[in-house]
Amino acid sequence: MSEIVLQIDGTKVRATEEMTILDAARNAGISIPTLCHNEKLEPYGACRICTVEVESGGRTSLAAACVRPVEKDLIVKTRSEKVDRIRKMLVQEALAHASDSAELRNLAQQYGADKDRFEQESSLCILCGLCVRYCAEIKKKDALAFLDRGVKREISFIPDVASKECWNCKECFSLCPTSALHAAWALIEALAFPNTRLQQKPEKEETA
Ligand code: SF4
Ligand code: FES
Repeated sequence: MSEIVLQIDGTKVRATEEMTILDAARNAGISIPTLCHNEKLEPYGACRICTVEVESGGRTSLAAACVRPVEKDLIVKTRSEKVDRIRKMLVQEALAHASDSAELRNLAQQYGADKDRFEQESSLCILCGLCVRYCAEIKKKDALAFLDRGVKREISFIPDVASKECWNCKECFSLCPTSALHAAWALIEALAFPNTRLQQKPEKEETA
């Protein structure tokens, strides 16, 4: 594994070639916000909140730190006027889905985002894909999937799989940065298999 030296926020940082900018920054104790990233999962690059400014060969551009590999002599700025403006806009858009999310509110505070900048959307989901990917990549169950496209895109439990696999798992629930997953679960529970809970065998038989 060859070593690469790059600069992040004015500090020389050592990394190995398979690392992303996010990996290198975190190794060096430099924080970059993320919403769709999880170290156990393949990089996804959906939310763009990890956007940073990169300078390579005299050219400056923007990159998603969680998917952009490190490069020799790359110069990275994790904060700049442009980066902060982009993050503020992205947080505002996400807040339109989930204004109560503690994670989003925390980001809103850091980037001066207004939770009422955009009209509230009916879906609580910010399409980070953490739940769908966790179930597919780690649990290998595919009990969740994205449905539809564009503005109608949303996640849903797959009733046949979820009714068998999810009751004793629910490991993805804590990954959701909003309450979208709980809402989707409540919906599928009520609509698709309303009696399943009643059919569940209690873990311990009641002793009279
Ligand atoms: S339900 Fe939650 S974890 Fe799943 S994609 Fe939507 S916001 Fe992300
Ligand atoms: S954390 Fe990088 S795109 Fe979501």
